[in-house]
Amino acid sequence: MSSDAQVPKPASAPRSRMLEGVILGAGLALALSNYVYTQNGSVSLDGANVGHGGNEARARPAKTTNHDELPEPPGSHQYASKEEVQQAIEELRKALPGEDAIMTDLDTLTTYGHSDNSYHPTSPHSVVVRPQSTEDVVKIVNIARQYRVPIVPYSGATSLEGHFSGYPSGDICIDMSGMDKIIEIHEGDGDVVVQAGVPWEELNRTLKDKGIPLFFPLDPGPGATIGGMIGTGCSGTNAVRYGTAKGEWFLNITAVLPNGKVIKTRRRARKSSAGFDLTKIFIGAEGTLGIVTEATLRLAPVVPTRVAMAQFPDIQHAVSAVQEILNSPNGPHLQCIELLDDKMMAAINTAGEVSRKLPISDTLFFKIQGSEDAIGATAAAVRETTAKHGSTRFEFAQTDEEAEELWESRKYALISTIGSEPGARCWTTDVCVPPSKLPQLVSETKKDLADNNLRSTIVGHVGDGNFHALILFKDDKELHAVSDAVHRLVRRAIRMDGTCTGEHGVGVGKKEYLVEELGADTVELMKTIKRAIDPLNIMNPSKLYPDTDDKSKSTTTGH
Ligand SMILES: Cc1cc2nc3c(=O)[nH]c(=O)nc-3n(C[C@H](O)[C@H](O)[C@H](O)COP(=O)(O)OP(=O)(O)OC[C@H]3O[C@@H](n4cnc5c(N)ncnc54)[C@H](O)[C@@H]3O)c2cc1C
Ligand SMILES: *[C@@H]1O[C@H](CO)[C@@H](O)[C@H](O)[C@H]1NC(C)=O
Ligand SMILES: *[C@@H]1O[C@H](CO)[C@@H](O)[C@H](O)[C@H]1NC(C)=O
Ligand SMILES: *[C@@H]1O[C@H](CO)[C@@H](O)[C@H](O)[C@H]1NC(C)=O
Repeated sequence: MSSDAQVPKPASAPRSRMLEGVILGAGLALALSNYVYTQNGSVSLDGANVGHGGNEARARPAKTTNHDELPEPPGSHQYASKEEVQQAIEELRKALPGEDAIMTDLDTLTTYGHSDNSYHPTSPHSVVVRPQSTEDVVKIVNIARQYRVPIVPYSGATSLEGHFSGYPSGDICIDMSGMDKIIEIHEGDGDVVVQAGVPWEELNRTLKDKGIPLFFPLDPGPGATIGGMIGTGCSGTNAVRYGTAKGEWFLNITAVLPNGKVIKTRRRARKSSAGFDLTKIFIGAEGTLGIVTEATLRLAPVVPTRVAMAQFPDIQHAVSAVQEILNSPNGPHLQCIELLDDKMMAAINTAGEVSRKLPISDTLFFKIQGSEDAIGATAAAVRETTAKHGSTRFEFAQTDEEAEELWESRKYALISTIGSEPGARCWTTDVCVPPSKLPQLVSETKKDLADNNLRSTIVGHVGDGNFHALILFKDDKELHAVSDAVHRLVRRAIRMDGTCTGEHGVGVGKKEYLVEELGADTVELMKTIKRAIDPLNIMNPSKLYPDTDDKSKSTTTGH
């Protein structure tokens, strides 16, 4: 990458200013920006700035005295002192008097800043707050803004890249679990209105229990909830058929912005051309632009499915079979195609999640959907294609229970992997490449891991070119080796026109790759949007946006 890809410094950055002007002119942030924050935290309209065509109209922290200065870049803000954090907590207690609404015991603060599933270190919060309504969230945001205390939204806590870790100088963690109501189900329209704390599995179960033949097809980790799924822009095993959170599954989002305003991004109509898509800026924003409190979700009809699996001599054969199947007329009947390597199959057996031992070789799990006839025809075609690509064995799950069990064993792959080596922790990687590049990516990665004596299982949403190596480590030395291997893996994927994250998101772990993947100007545009919406940088700071010095890291190690 050449030097003109430098991230411009805000103070001398005509280009980024122009970009900001464009954004503001486009109307995205105009409404948000014609105010300044006063010293006492209240918000007032900045009359002097109105009428400059938007170019100069922007919010800025009161501590910025020079009015020509741009807001500081994310990461360099001055936040509340320890004493001010304590004052903010007292204000929170007054604003949310309910039992258990405010938690400050060390156990809770630590638990909420920790994940057993991730390699990131524990980073406790200063306080955990549990709102019950959008109004409660507004109160919390207003207090956070007044005292300049960072906010970390927290849903199912299944994200894997340090997304919900506490901010070192103090933060308010907003636990959305109290907002778990399904508000309206519109069966005829095929949509549902929910609060952000509803877990996807719960929604699915409720629809089933009510005899409504619809389901919500985004299926990330067990325990994830709608707010966090929007936050990470998730997907899962169903993506090959239904796409990801970045598709059309979220119609209308209710969000509390950092300035305390509540917005709705759309009406309930299935499609809309009314301007650009503000729903989308919250999808994958990782809590850095506001807090989602409600969402209107589109649902899909439940279609009968059957689960099958096929064993292969190696991953290359499995992947080439998948490409041929997906590109055939039977492709649309495949709801899921999952790859589990031999080591993963062994780990599942060891974990005892399944009642019969599975064959230990590179395996594809299929979920085939459609009418009985369609399933029969598709299965025959899949069997034929897999055999042509060297599959030694193809079989259907014999019963519904077995189908469920197989699918669960895929969903709990991470837990099985960790369980396969007592005392070990696991680093879950997540890259995605154009499907045709997947065999090369997987074989180079397996070789790299073996050359470095690293223990790993591999699972992949192979139909989408998305794969995870789950790499075990026991101590700091191994952690270091894993970190190096992951770095090589990510850069290998980007070289193949892929991405540093197919579905888990950026969090803390992937920030350093964004410039290399997207280009400095694209990343600068993201930061510009962030600054326009959250000028004080109180929403989940230090996540998602690359630190300024990450840029040089990417170029100096460039090739
Ligand atoms: C066993 C296992 C399997 C997994 N499999 C998959 C998979 O197949 N596909 C996949 O995509 N992911 C997978 N994941 C990762 C994880 O499930 C997803 O990232 C999921 O979307 C996170 O949702 P959550 O509710 O747990 O969010 P959290 O982890 O609580 O939060 C995620 C992010 O969203 C922000 N956030 C939370 N709530 C809100 C809100 N209300 N408003 C704004 N921002 C908010 C948080 O600040 C954070 O940045 C897996 C994880 C595990 C442990
Ligand atoms: C904050 O300051 C503004 C003037 O800058 C004033 O109008 C407002 O009443 C003050 N608010 C509080 C809570 O002190
Ligand atoms: C989701 O719904 C579908 C259709 O009812 C069902 O097959 C599947 O098992 C459900 N999954 C969960 C985790 O509830
Ligand atoms: C947002 O969602 C609600 C609930 O579905 C809907 O009634 C409303 O019209 C939507 N949009 C706006 C702008 O209110």
